[in-house]
Parts: sequence; structure tokens; C-alpha cells
Amino acid sequence: MPRTNSIWLETAYPERFGPLPEDVRADACVVGAGIAGLTTAYLLARDGRRVVVIDDGRPGCGQTGVTTAHLSNEIDDSYQEIVRLHGEYGARLACESHRAAIDRIEAIAQLENIACDFERVSGYLFLAPEHGATELDNELEAARTAGADVERLERAPVRGFDSGPCLRFRNQGQFHPMKYVNGLVEAFTRAGGRLYSGTRATDIVPGPEAQVKTAGGRTVTAGAVVVATNSPFNDLFAIHTKQAPYTTYVIAARVPANAITHALYWDTSDPYHYVRLQPASNDQLGGDNAAALDLLVVGGEDHKSGQADDMEERFERLERWMRDRFPAAREVEFRWSGQVMETQDGLAFIGRNPMDAPNIYVATGDSGMGMTHGTIAGILLSDLIGGRRNPWAELYDPSRIRTGAAGEFLKENLNVAAQYASWLTAGEVASVDEIAPNSGAILREGLTKIAAFRDERGQVHKRSAVCTHLGCIVAWNSAMSTWDCPCHGSRFDKFGVVVNGPASADLGKVKA
Ligand SMILES: Cc1cc2nc3c(=O)[nH]c(=O)nc-3n(C[C@H](O)[C@H](O)[C@H](O)COP(=O)(O)OP(=O)(O)OC[C@H]3O[C@@H](n4cnc5c(N)ncnc54)[C@H](O)[C@@H]3O)c2cc1C
Ligand code: FES
Repeated sequence: MPRTNSIWLETAYPERFGPLPEDVRADACVVGAGIAGLTTAYLLARDGRRVVVIDDGRPGCGQTGVTTAHLSNEIDDSYQEIVRLHGEYGARLACESHRAAIDRIEAIAQLENIACDFERVSGYLFLAPEHGATELDNELEAARTAGADVERLERAPVRGFDSGPCLRFRNQGQFHPMKYVNGLVEAFTRAGGRLYSGTRATDIVPGPEAQVKTAGGRTVTAGAVVVATNSPFNDLFAIHTKQAPYTTYVIAARVPANAITHALYWDTSDPYHYVRLQPASNDQLGGDNAAALDLLVVGGEDHKSGQADDMEERFERLERWMRDRFPAAREVEFRWSGQVMETQDGLAFIGRNPMDAPNIYVATGDSGMGMTHGTIAGILLSDLIGGRRNPWAELYDPSRIRTGAAGEFLKENLNVAAQYASWLTAGEVASVDEIAPNSGAILREGLTKIAAFRDERGQVHKRSAVCTHLGCIVAWNSAMSTWDCPCHGSRFDKFGVVVNGPASADLGKVKA
């Protein structure tokens, strides 16, 4: 059986830090040690600021640890959409900012000597069977309008994959995200930054000196607060009505080294497939020699979080799709899933938190491009906090409204409203006896619903199934053994402990 962990977390271990032991003061407090929070913290520390980072878990163990780490300035939602929603000038800024993010990652890796397997590669967008050539022509025109370095080819000049007609985006990148995160952590602490794990932020008290309150009863007092928790825990509605959580799946199969050209590959499907190669060695995968090989990393099969639990079929479809196109693929070594936050207009929300004090900032809405959006967040937020003008500020402003996105806004919010109907439905099982070991299901008990998990020894653990953010009923995710909220993407582990916001409290206890 493949391992159900990401390659990154199995081949570069997250650093350990202790929890915040006492109340502290700083110039800036960053909540969340994923790529967005750490890049921001690192750049602020390099500006000479006193920075404290707190994270519920260990650095990089949120969505950064389960990414696929394509570094691209071809926007996931397509440049056709970005031009339609943000205009030609906005599309140029989007292209420029993602290009700058790739350059910045490369520069930081060089400056700080971070051996993170960074490679410059081309990105190829090829046709899904349901699309005709005009799809590529339209995207080519929009991408050129945005200033992308792109050309149309009859087929990608690569080994091991027959792409058919495609667009080539030059100067894209890829890296090992956990090696990069570990390097950022080291560089940040070398620059005087302080990092605390196992420290959950529960509240922010605004003021010129804002106070970040933690679940452990400590306070970080800081002139600026950056909430980089992937989905902000400090916001009830303003942001969460403008973005939606989608679960996406990944498999990684062995291939002989260099059998397939290292590049980024994406098709035009919706949801689309995304593919890259990661160099590895046999002993890293438990083998008895260090022979070089590549892992072919293939992602796709996205669905709205908490609204499907057919992960076996999804992994099988992904594998069939891979084998039909990449004959060099051997056995699947890893499979995992994670969550992306899709905004209504295809770009992240980075800047001052809407309807909040001016010194509270957020970075969220990765739109499946959180490696580059997270790096843009670092550049943009360190500029805003440092009082420097940044040309991307308006494009990424979390308060923005793009009229062209009204249809998406309505669709996603009607979908959220519909989720509350599950308060009234029956449970998935009538009794805990129907729950197999190592799985979970929703039960009805009187007027409420219970999230019940049976562990491998047969013991049943019950929690309220009501999400502590805004009260939707959570659903069991068998791929990751989590309880996922179908409304705004909160995730809780099998015992009900919150692992992903916007919720900041665990699922409620129920009486035995
Ligand atoms: C399968 C998959 C493939 C992807 N592929 C790509 C790709 O190829 N290219 C790309 O650019 N992007 C990709 N993405 C998106 C990208 O991985 C994410 O957008 C990015 O990692 C998010 O980084 P982040 O720092 O915003 O959040 P995270 O990495 O999730 O970090 C947030 C941190 O906040 C902490 N936290 C949460 N709540 C609290 C709290 N209340 N108190 C304290 N700490 C808290 C968490 O513990 C976590 O460590 C992919 C995502 C997935 C799931
Ligand atoms: S995440 Fe908003 S109700 Fe659950």
C-alpha cells in the first residue's frame, strides 16, 4: 500500500520548537508558520524588526507540507479569467507578482544557502480531451496580454510524455517545500526571530499595540499582527463569504531517473490535473541502495471540501489518468490530499483585514497557488508594515470587490447556505456499531449530531458534529482521517481537535 503522507513530510522533517512560555512583546506577531507566515516573518526580521511567530503545530505542517510546490506564473484560473475579472493592468500585475515570487524564492535559497532542490523548469499547458485548440489560442492571447513569457508549440519537447498541442511558459520553478521551510526557519531565527510551536491563537484584541491571545493563556503584544493561518481564524464573515475550500488529491509514483523531463505539466480540465517530477533516491523510500530515481507527482480530482467521501475512486481515477499518459510510471509510493482556498476572483487576499484595526493583516485565499501567493504575501506585507509603497497592494486587497465575480460569490454562498440543511437529516449510521475500526461517521442523537470515530482498538470517541466556526455539520474525510467542515474549510482531527481554521476551538465534548 502507498504511504498516506506527503513526500515532503517523509523526506525532510519539520523543526521542533516549544510553546510560548510567557507573555512577550514584539514589533510584529505572525500567526501561522506555513510558507506565507514564515516568508513574512523572515522578511520582517531582515528589515530589523523584532518578530514572534506562533503556530498551533510545527512549522510547515499545514497545507505547505502537503502541497505539490509548482512555482508558476500561469494562473490556475487562467489568464482569460484574470483579464476578465481584474482587467489588463491587473493581469499584468498578477503575472509580474508571481514571477517576482519565483525569483524571490530562488534568491532567498541562494542567500541563505537553503538546499531545497530548487530548479528552473518550463511549464506546459496541454489540452484535455474535451477541449479544442481555441482553448489554447485564447489562453495564449490572454497570457501575452498579461506579459507572460509564453509560446504555442505543436508538442512539448520533452521525454516521456506526448503532450499534443500545448503552451510553454518559460522560467517557472519547482522545489522541495519542507526543505525550503526548514531553511526559512533557520534563517529567521538566525536573524533574531522567535518561533513557538504548539501555541494556538484564539483571539486578537485590537489597539495600537494589538494583543494576540493564546489557548495556553499567554499574550503576544505587537505593533502589527499578521494572520497567516491559511484560513483566518479572526474573521467570521468578511473573507469567508469570498472564498471556498476545495479538497484536492495527489499520488506520487516511482519513475526511472530522467525518464520524464523535469517540468510542470497542467491540462485544461476543470478540475485540472497538475504534474511534476521530484528527484529522490531508492534509500529515501526504504530501499537498500542509494540509486537515483524520480517521483512523478500527479494531482487533481478536486471537490468542495466535506461534500464527497469517495477518495478511493478519486485516487484510482488519478492513477488511471497518470498511466494513460506517462508509461514510465511504476508503483505508486505516496498518496495524500489537502485543501486549497479558492477565491471568487482567482487571486489571494493579502493586506489589511477587512473591518478591523489598520495594524491587523491577513494572507489567505491561496487559489491553489499558495507557494507563490505565500511569497507575494511576505513581500507585500513586509512592505505595508514597513510603510513602503507596493504596486500590488490594490490587486490583492482583501476588501476588494470585483463585479465580474458576483456569479461565483452567489454560487458558493448558496452552496454554504444549503449545508445547514444537514442539521435536519438523519445520521449516516443509526448506531456506532456500524462504524468500522479507524473510521468515522455522523450519528443523530436527539436534536443534535455527533461525530463518532472508532479507533483501531474498537473504542469510540464522540464529539459534537457542529463546527465551532459558524455551526455547519462536519463530514468524515477518510483520506486524511479528519472531520471537514463543508462551509468554510475548518478541519478537525479524528478526536475533534482543530487543525485548520477558520475555527479556532475544538469540536465540543458530548456527555458520555
Ligand atoms: C495537494 C495540494 C497541492 C498544491 N499544489 C500547489 C502548487 O503546486 N503550487 C502552489 O503554489 N500551491 C499549491 N498548493 C497550495 C499551497 O500548498 C498552499 O496554499 C500553501 O501551502 C498555504 O500556505 P499558508 O502558509 O497560507 O498555510 P499553511 O501552510 O496551512 O500554514 C498555516 C499555519 O497556520 C497554523 N495555524 C492555523 N490556525 C492557527 C491558530 N489559530 N493559531 C496558531 N496557528 C494556527 C497551522 O498549524 C499552519 O502551520 C497546493 C495545496 C494542496 C493541498
Ligand atoms: S468553517 Fe465555517 S461553519 Fe465550519
